Amino acid sequence: MYKQLFAITAIILALLGCGDSGSNKTNQTKSLNTLSTKSTNLTTKIAFIGDQGMNNSTKEVLKLIKDQGTDLLVINGDFEYGDDPKGWAKMHERILGEDFPIIAVAGNHDEPLWKQYQPIIKRWQENPKLDCTGVAGEYSSCSFRGIKIVTSVPDIFKTERYSRQRSAKFVLNSFKDDNSIWRICGFHKNMHAMQTGDKGDESGWEVYEECKNAGAMITTGHEHAYARSYLLDSIENQSVLSYSNDMELKEGQSIVVLSGVGGESVREEKNDGYWWAAKANATNGLKKGGALFCEYGISGDPRSATCYFMDVDHNIWDRFSLRSNL
Ligand SMILES: [Fe+2]
Repeated sequence: MYKQLFAITAIILALLGCGDSGSNKTNQTKSLNTLSTKSTNLTTKIAFIGDQGMNNSTKEVLKLIKDQGTDLLVINGDFEYGDDPKGWAKMHERILGEDFPIIAVAGNHDEPLWKQYQPIIKRWQENPKLDCTGVAGEYSSCSFRGIKIVTSVPDIFKTERYSRQRSAKFVLNSFKDDNSIWRICGFHKNMHAMQTGDKGDESGWEVYEECKNAGAMITTGHEHAYARSYLLDSIENQSVLSYSNDMELKEGQSIVVLSGVGGESVREEKNDGYWWAAKANATNGLKKGGALFCEYGISGDPRSATCYFMDVDHNIWDRFSLRSNL
């Protein structure tokens, strides 16, 4: 009799959603909602590329980005190297969808047609899923699901407007009163030590240091290769804090990623350093383009992220995890 009553009661509770699994779900939802007040509450995947071109390889990279379930694309300069900004915009919209959120910042090759590129980027950054302030394609500060992405243009075009100091100052000011739990910097050019080809000292150290001081992951392009540093507490001195692939980002320590194989070409390695944790270039066998993907909010923890660099043939060249302590 009691057994029958217990069974009937259990069935009624299960139907009403009052069983154990129901309360677990409720607790999970509650904790996610609580965490979301600060920032990210969903898993969010961001892809980082640069140096695209407009060829088959470029389109393969964009298809990979779409297929990987990416929520936001960040393009760190040097778009289509030609004279077709409208075609460049259409290529993205056709492959990714018209309302796909994209943040893009100028590269040195984008100067001649900058007046045509900039309105396209402005329109993209006005996407309702993004909250951007500043000047689109140049000095831009965007929030996406609680993640802050700050773009700048050190030494991009040859006027004072694009000076190294101005970019460093913009980064400093953009993160000063920001309470996002993830911060990301995006700019095109590099310093020689922060790329694996034969690019010189161009961006200045200041912008790297300001990003690192803010605990922002630093993403760049310009050299057509992929490379990711260990955790550094000085970018200028290449001071490695840890050789682990599980890293904690906080004010004063961060990593540098060069992700410049968006489709235009893949170059040989000409320059190495003990500070690189992973590299993919023509010398060590990268044949086609690829993208860095970072997924934030892993396992319901908004401060946890995993990243990987994947080429268009789905080979994974680098994998690391990040924890934010901002
Ligand atoms: Fe470039």
